[in-house]
Amino acid sequence: PRPIYLSRHGESQYNVDDRVGGDSDLSALGEMYAEKLADFFYSEFPTKEIKNEIIFFTSTMRRAVHTSDVVAQKLEIQPLQLKTLDEINVGICDGMTYSEIAQKFPNDFQERKINKLGYRYPRGESYLDLISRIEPVIFEIERSRQPVMIIAHQAILRCLYAYFHQNEIPEVPTLDIPLHCVIKLTPAAYFCFEKRVLINP
Ligand code: F6P
Repeated sequence: PRPIYLSRHGESQYNVDDRVGGDSDLSALGEMYAEKLADFFYSEFPTKEIKNEIIFFTSTMRRAVHTSDVVAQKLEIQPLQLKTLDEINVGICDGMTYSEIAQKFPNDFQERKINKLGYRYPRGESYLDLISRIEPVIFEIERSRQPVMIIAHQAILRCLYAYFHQNEIPEVPTLDIPLHCVIKLTPAAYFCFEKRVLINP
């Protein structure tokens, strides 16, 4: 059985500021994570043959592309950048902190608290939107028998993880997908083996 590795990008400047949306680049710590992540994958895939088999997807956002580029250089393989894997579009809340959202759009903040799964940011997306957005990626992964490496974002990875881990849909928005952690899933017949590797940058 082939493994599926999921990782968020390294810590970004917006992660440090606790802001949502935007397209910020990695923080210094995030860059260090990218280096260590590259070392980790390098040891997971020891031969050239196996490296060349990897299906490597990332998003088109700076923080994910930057993290992926560091891994790509070390492994000498190229990631495929997919807009399908871009982080949840937070619409009118782009660039705001959660407390700014609570102040400026208290009704929206409350609504999302009550129904995080179905709440759609005005001019943005909901978790339900994401679940349908990632369908083509799931199809690609299911079709292949090769190892998969995905470097993406919190909300997107919650959706992907839930699919393979067979979580119930209402659980998706609160699944724990921390920064600086690789989740290795190995799908078996009726369940999925899981290993989490914390990588302290
Ligand atoms: O804070 C990082 C981030 O990836 C944001 O870009 C995104 O809006 C958020 O996490 C999604 O998490 P939640 O749905 O819990 O707000």
